[in-house]
Amino acid sequence: MPRHAFVNGQYLPHHDAAVHIEDRGFQFADGVYEVISCIHGTLADERGHLDRLERSLKELQIAMPVTRKTLQFIMRELLRRNRLKNAAVYIQVTRGAAKRDFKFPKDAAPTLVLTTWPFNFDNGNIGKGVKAITVEDQRWARRDIKTVGLLPQSLAKQKAAVKGAFEAWMLDGKGFVTEGSSSNAFIVKGKTLRTRPATNDILKGVTRTAIAHICAEHGLKFVEKPFKPRDALKADEAFNTSATSLVTPIVSLDGKPIGNGKPGPITTALYEHYRAYVEDLKRKQYPWKA
Ligand code: PDD
Repeated sequence: MPRHAFVNGQYLPHHDAAVHIEDRGFQFADGVYEVISCIHGTLADERGHLDRLERSLKELQIAMPVTRKTLQFIMRELLRRNRLKNAAVYIQVTRGAAKRDFKFPKDAAPTLVLTTWPFNFDNGNIGKGVKAITVEDQRWARRDIKTVGLLPQSLAKQKAAVKGAFEAWMLDGKGFVTEGSSSNAFIVKGKTLRTRPATNDILKGVTRTAIAHICAEHGLKFVEKPFKPRDALKADEAFNTSATSLVTPIVSLDGKPIGNGKPGPITTALYEHYRAYVEDLKRKQYPWKA
């Protein structure tokens, strides 16, 4: 069975799926994206991801290429064609193809691309925990928009991979952690979680938003306050959140253990609550707001 992708109105064999060479996503990173997990056939936190997609597009003055309802249909149809129940769904919207010019083109239609790939969510990272390193945050000033301009994050993740780590926590000019290269960063002390406030300095994660609600429901304190690597090393636990890593324990930072060097009980409980939330079809999904 060939793998399929969706490009501008058509389901195509993945191998033949392509966009124009003058697509502004290719030349200017002029586009945004979302990654949504499909877990046991359910699109996790779909509502929040679509809320954020619309907001990212609005911030860049790019029109939503299809209605939300149509996009929801395309995601399901692509998963069906690819016979996937446990997968990542990737949605990318760019300003479209136009003659190269820094100014916005007047008549380009946005490009819409969707791909999917199988993803094993029970991959052992949650049970064992993962390592993280710290790197300088080299990104632009609008990290709240989920753009495809991901070169600093790619460089950061590569550095982590070379050191045998799963994630890179990025540090601002004052040495505070902004977030992971593709996740939000948390530390835990007692029953209090600490994470950076959702300003333009970070991407406000959809998973992070759900964790804030889950904390309120389970008597945990969710504090939005920047922290440094040394705070993480004094914490009981640390973890990352994202659509694909869900709630992943961080057990060491720059080679030094966090807590007892093993996934902690609060992180494990949050992971379980999050899985229960996303897999419960009867449960109302939390909205995402900028
Ligand atoms: N990344 N911060 C950054 C920089 C991210 O790239 C991501 C997600 C997050 C977490 O957001 P969410 O919980 O909504 O997935 C935070 C996705 C998974 C990616 O680029 O693959």
